[in-house]
Amino acid sequence: MLAPGSWLGCLGGGQLGRMFAHAAQALGYRVLVLDPDGDGPAAQAADDVIVADYDDIGAIAALGARVSAVTTEFENVPAQSLEQLAALVPTRPSAASVRIAQDRRLEKCFFVKNGLPVGEFAVIESEADIASIGVHLFPGILKTAALGYDGKGQARVANPVELRAAFARMNGVPCVLEALVAFEAEVSVLVARAANGDTRVWPVQENQHVGGILDLTIVPARISETCFVEAQALALRLVTALDYVGVLCVELFVTPSGGLLVNEIAPRPHNSGHYTIEACVTSQFEQQARILANAPLGDCALTQAAVMVNVLGDVWFESATPMQPAWRELLALPGAHLHLYGKAEARPARKMGHVTCTAPELEEALSLAERVKQILRIA
Ligand SMILES: Nc1ncnc2c1ncn2[C@@H]1O[C@H](COP(=O)(O)OP(=O)(O)OP(=O)(O)O)[C@@H](O)[C@H]1O
Ligand SMILES: [Mg+2]
Repeated sequence: MLAPGSWLGCLGGGQLGRMFAHAAQALGYRVLVLDPDGDGPAAQAADDVIVADYDDIGAIAALGARVSAVTTEFENVPAQSLEQLAALVPTRPSAASVRIAQDRRLEKCFFVKNGLPVGEFAVIESEADIASIGVHLFPGILKTAALGYDGKGQARVANPVELRAAFARMNGVPCVLEALVAFEAEVSVLVARAANGDTRVWPVQENQHVGGILDLTIVPARISETCFVEAQALALRLVTALDYVGVLCVELFVTPSGGLLVNEIAPRPHNSGHYTIEACVTSQFEQQARILANAPLGDCALTQAAVMVNVLGDVWFESATPMQPAWRELLALPGAHLHLYGKAEARPARKMGHVTCTAPELEEALSLAERVKQILRIA
């Protein structure tokens, strides 16, 4: 195990890196962040920062020389940079795992090859591929194979004509067309795998999106026991098949018949896992630090019910003149845990922070979340 005081590296400077830094520092490690923006959420919390682009070969070499292990908080870090780092220090997750998660075509292939349930889909790389698309894929969602997030790079299409137009609007980049899933609920599962192959899985959480962005996470998910256990088993199978090392999140659809379909994976801690900070024995960020340090994995058990409310920049603009939300009133609520990411400027749809509402019973946590939404004027 790395001695406390050792330096851990993090590629990426967003809120996930910030919460990773807090957790790693609590265990006594020092954190060096590489971020193109020197004053982002993670850079503010880190012990030191290298301000450089993710593909800056010199900067990557400098990072590798200064840390004992490195992780990433940003999914679109070039896989080549992770490969360059892996030659210098333990790099978790590996470039190979990240590369699969970065490309929906590789991701779907991996799911199918490993017998993980996925909805109907087709790869579209050229106009010609559209001609052979079957009617069973409509209505569907066209997604760019790479670089999508928060529902960006997606278009709903009802028929081949709309598909053709949407593909043209994507400028002909490789895409995946997915049949629209009439899901009963969306859930996700966080899972951790250490370098020695040890695994741990957190409880299943239920996610509600608004406008393609996560709005609410409810834990435990209100799904059947069978479905809950199956989702956890699936996540464990997935990380083992991927030979993954690190924390990973699997996003799933629950179908009306109670079955599961994998939507996508994120090779890092996840927005839907922020509740683990207050509501689990070990948070997703502490686990990430433990894995980097080669420490034993922590217990993932839920200690109380939780509902996480995402705080987007929109709430700054709810009144005629942009203003700070009512933090005082929010902080007066017992059981409401506020996290703000230190972003200088609020913008609509920008993730500024989150509030985790905890209580012994889920009903109570849900009412508390309602109250939080009223105070922040979240529609
Ligand atoms: N095939 C589908 N059928 C029905 N709804 C879908 C489908 N694919 C995506 N969605 C909806 O759109 C949301 C965002 O899709 P997806 O997770 O693929 O995108 P993303 O841009 O990678 O999002 P994020 O990075 O925020 O997870 C999903 O959580 C779900 O609500
Ligand atoms: Mg998603």
